[in-house]
Amino acid sequence: MNQESIKKAAEAIKNARYGIAFTGAGISVESGVPPFRGSANSVWAKYDPQLLDIDYFYAHPAESWKAINEIFLNFMFKHEIHPNTAHYALAEYERLGYVKCVITQNIDILHQQAGSRNVYEYHGTAGRIRCTKCDFTTTPDKIDLAALPPKCPKCGALLKPDFIFFGEGIPAEAYQGSASAAMQADVCIVVGTTGEVMPAGMIPITVKRHGGTIIEVNPTHSAFTDSVTDIYLDGKAGEVFEALNKELGVTISK
Ligand code: APR
Repeated sequence: MNQESIKKAAEAIKNARYGIAFTGAGISVESGVPPFRGSANSVWAKYDPQLLDIDYFYAHPAESWKAINEIFLNFMFKHEIHPNTAHYALAEYERLGYVKCVITQNIDILHQQAGSRNVYEYHGTAGRIRCTKCDFTTTPDKIDLAALPPKCPKCGALLKPDFIFFGEGIPAEAYQGSASAAMQADVCIVVGTTGEVMPAGMIPITVKRHGGTIIEVNPTHSAFTDSVTDIYLDGKAGEVFEALNKELGVTISK
């Protein structure tokens, strides 16, 4: 990560007319949340993605729920994960007007916990459980995860985490809101994503097509680095945002 690039990125962020952020699993790695791919402890190295296919979920709910618990819920709601410097920095940039919204692929609600208010959860959230039949919703800490699969206390139907499974559509509000933000954005800070999953990966491409500047934070190259990235900050999210905050004179309140 060179100082020149940090300076250029800070300049672009500070002068943005309509800055946005687009984040993936990599921004939460330093909070202890494993990425989906790219390392030995990644989720898909340990679990078959089929377990999170929507048809498989309905055909084998107990098995799918066991994986959901182990991959997400036990982890997120029992292991006490917390936002890191990068999440807090983006929340501060929103308060300063540098960033209008965060569009995240993550379901770990760490952006909200860090104080970001305008967050589009492109793949839904693990912070809410809903009934597959009626309008009942609750939070993971309020259901009995010992008896799988959990059933709706109102109508008895199967309960499901409110994040999208493979084969499900993107939540309409997140899809429309983030597409509109991407079309208006003149700066997009892309943090910790391979850019391999669509349609989420279209967000930085849309910004670029509308003449925006793409700043990318990632220790390794992604699908964006050689095609749409204008300023590549090759480092981990925590250290990069420490350097950006220093350059911007931003102090974060944890
Ligand atoms: N700081 C910044 N980036 C990091 C860090 C870090 N400390 N550690 C890893 N990364 C980068 C990796 O280099 C990789 O590019 O984060 C990215 C993690 O990639 P994925 O795990 O594929 O995460 P993501 O791109 O968000 O996956 C998209 O795939 O399975 C689906 O729905 C799931 O939302 C997820 C989607």
